[in-house]
Amino acid sequence: MSYSYQINSKEQYDAAYQRSVEAPEAFWAEVAHNFQWRRKWDKVLDWNFAEPHVAWFAGAKLNITENCLDRHVAENPNRPAIIWEPNDPEEHHRVLTYKNLYDKVCQFAHVLKNNGVKRGDRVCIYMGMIPELAIAVLACARIGAIHSVIFGGFSAQSIADRLQDARAEYIVTCDGAFRGTKDIPLKSVIDDALIACPFVKRVIVCTRTRTPVSMIKGRDVWLEDELKKVETLGLTDCPAEEMDAEDPLFILYTSGSTGKPKGVVHSCAGYMVYTAYSFVNVFNYQPGDIHFCTADIGWITGHSYIVYGPLAAGATTLMFEGVPTWPDASRFWQIVEKYKVNILYTAPTAIRSLMGFGLQPLQGYDLSSLKVLGTVGEPINEEAWNWYNENIGKGNCPIVDTWWQTETGGMLISNMANITPGIPAWATLPLPGVQPVLVDEHGTEIEGNPAAGNLCIKAPWPAILRTTYGDHERCRKTYFSTYPGMYFTGDGAMRDAQGNYRITGRVDDVLNVSGHRIGTAEVENAINMHAGVVESAVVGFPHDIKGQGIYAFIIFQGLHEDENLTRQDILQTVSRIIGPIAKPDKIQFVTGLPKTRSGKIMRRILRKIAEGETSNFGDTTTLLDPAVVEEIAVGKL
Ligand code: WTA
Repeated sequence: MSYSYQINSKEQYDAAYQRSVEAPEAFWAEVAHNFQWRRKWDKVLDWNFAEPHVAWFAGAKLNITENCLDRHVAENPNRPAIIWEPNDPEEHHRVLTYKNLYDKVCQFAHVLKNNGVKRGDRVCIYMGMIPELAIAVLACARIGAIHSVIFGGFSAQSIADRLQDARAEYIVTCDGAFRGTKDIPLKSVIDDALIACPFVKRVIVCTRTRTPVSMIKGRDVWLEDELKKVETLGLTDCPAEEMDAEDPLFILYTSGSTGKPKGVVHSCAGYMVYTAYSFVNVFNYQPGDIHFCTADIGWITGHSYIVYGPLAAGATTLMFEGVPTWPDASRFWQIVEKYKVNILYTAPTAIRSLMGFGLQPLQGYDLSSLKVLGTVGEPINEEAWNWYNENIGKGNCPIVDTWWQTETGGMLISNMANITPGIPAWATLPLPGVQPVLVDEHGTEIEGNPAAGNLCIKAPWPAILRTTYGDHERCRKTYFSTYPGMYFTGDGAMRDAQGNYRITGRVDDVLNVSGHRIGTAEVENAINMHAGVVESAVVGFPHDIKGQGIYAFIIFQGLHEDENLTRQDILQTVSRIIGPIAKPDKIQFVTGLPKTRSGKIMRRILRKIAEGETSNFGDTTTLLDPAVVEEIAVGKL
């Protein structure tokens, strides 16, 4: 099998790009003809960014799982679909062929149906990285239920917020999850979340860790028992629900600069076409290649480039349950050698953390199977890029620096392996179908090169978000109102003389900690829940491994004489409210915060202090009480 939409040279890229801009409908229709449709579309694209309204392939009928499973089962039933490497290297790995995966998805789909799940229902999935997670995702898609996967590191409170927002009445979880030396009690976290969610009708629990769990009569069932029932009933194949192109496929919550996380909604057809297209072209995927994306399926990277993109392309995708540093820092390299991985896709934070262990963990591992390396999630610094290139790629593997977002569904700006050149720390060129623009603070497009400004996209690509769940106005306001007529990414970028893009990071109050998006407002709200906290302000600061760390300035009433005890309590509070990933790296107690006369916190100043720059604060004349800055700066020393 090869892909008729595979780009094989720079000239082909140029031609594809040009066509995608001049004749987007014809361009994407050609790509879309390579997929399996129950009925083809009436109109390729209909859009306006004012509402916003975006519809791709309207009128078409399909089921994404027929594209991810059935057609490959028909052609290559024994090809490995998912290779699963457990947390503990001593435990047996699993290989699911396309036929195995198809069977399991069908059985799971029957389990969902038997438990009352219907088309359009929201199903929350809170599991560790085991094949059943991918199976559960696909089983939802099979029957037209909308999955909402929640990363295993989120707290009960975060889960409850998401369940309420999505009105999810069904949950699939595990007893627990293994990650390195940890055993995370997932079911027990769900139990805590459900205290605030009495509308949840059913919790399906998969066994993994054998951690003791409480099973509530009438609400909780074991997956194993449910699978047995399905077997006894003789239910095997599960016909796929016929979906409309624009029916929602999933909701994935992500942080923004204000308020609670938003449920980003992606729909069936456009997302399918775009994730497969971008997967094949950015990684230069060749049939038979083993693709190892180290992300968790709880994030968009896992959705698009562990599950949907690779499977829609009939690829072999490797899922890893554990962490890169356990049992030791050679784990990724063991896996690469063991499965002869061809494509490794990871995050700069993982690279920087492994760099810290030196070259010893690489000794003796055969990495010669690697052909393509990728990074995602945050800007990659040149040092990490060079280390990755020299020590992992041995100077022979292109590194694709892929810039994209939960909202974009797939990669938008990236070099393409073996097709367009990489430049350290630059995401480089837009994919076909993607029209980036840089705008100044007035929203005027900056033409000509070089340039720097806020990054927007001026026309829809097939995997753009369609709405934020339950609140379309929020979607409009957040992404389409800052610069009318354009999708605003929230990122700043530079463009060089050749038109390459370098992403410089968020220009809003969103932090990127170890590649995880966290809103400063969210962290502040969590800190403010702690008794004694009067007010807080959170900013990011440069962190060697995490990219960005979280720095919290807190006004606290009644500090314990051992300030560290209070710090621990606050960390515990943040863990409880959001999850351990949002814990501040540094907490500084202050008596006041730098505010303007209108009461706005001047974060610019706090960012400088957090960065260790305590001399030049720029213009502070609008501050209500300039002395407070001095005090905070001195307190930092
Ligand atoms: C950042 C992850 C620089 C960016 C797929 C974006 C990047 C946010 C890159 C989205 C990259 C992602 N270079 N920055 N290659 N990739 N980002 O929604 O700030 O978790 O807005 O999606 O990560 O994070 P999200």
